[in-house]
Amino acid sequence: MARKRLIAGNWKMHKTDSEAGESAVNLKALLANIKDIDILICPAFTSLYSLASIFRKTSIMLGAQNMHFEKEGAFTGEISAPMLRDIGVAYVILGHSERRHIFNEDDNMINRKVTAALAAGIAPILCIGETSEQRNRNETLDVLESQLTRCLKDVSKANAKKLIIAYEPVWAIGTGKNATPEQAEDIHRFIRTIIENLYDRNTAEIIRILYGGSVKQFNAKALLDKPDIDGALVGGASLEPAVFAEIVGMARIK
Ligand code: 13P
Repeated sequence: MARKRLIAGNWKMHKTDSEAGESAVNLKALLANIKDIDILICPAFTSLYSLASIFRKTSIMLGAQNMHFEKEGAFTGEISAPMLRDIGVAYVILGHSERRHIFNEDDNMINRKVTAALAAGIAPILCIGETSEQRNRNETLDVLESQLTRCLKDVSKANAKKLIIAYEPVWAIGTGKNATPEQAEDIHRFIRTIIENLYDRNTAEIIRILYGGSVKQFNAKALLDKPDIDGALVGGASLEPAVFAEIVGMARIK
């Protein structure tokens, strides 16, 4: 079954709203007419509203980088799924390793966020990945299986089909060291097997699995050529519109 590819840019804590607006206008000029690939930009919260207006009537979609699991309440400094949905946010990155490691988010909290996003009609991009220590101890597969199982606890099959999973080995994020296409493909196939065990074959075939971690214009094509790599979650290389557009272009050629 052909899964539509998705190239997502995670801008992390970069770009003021004016800088984000300038990049978005450039991206619109470079990518507005592409329909065969899903394109997603995840700016800081402060630019979601203005980018929603810049990307209106284009096929470029908007994602958030995090959210709280409650709908509303006394949670100073937090933002909820219905607030995001209301301004046109279609996706949310959840469980990113920077959230896990710097802000102490655990699988239980991420599970609550996944459930809340789905309830609000936002597709979660659930990030999983092992650290270099875990990899060196040969724990990669156990870590990924446990993250998936816990983060997807009580998520129904119908909802699971709306999910996107991003495999982001922690040792590859922002380090310039990326997994080889073969390593990444093996892991993506393993993730699909876990999804099949948790749900069924059909669900495993539908869910898109992105690779993230030092994806650049010079290594994206080889990764995207692999059958189980359905797209990329791009950090640093998404900050420059022309470079991001080049990576999107690579996803169009199989
Ligand atoms: P880099 O592409 O900068 O390694 O970041 C990857 C990432 O964390 C995307 O979410």
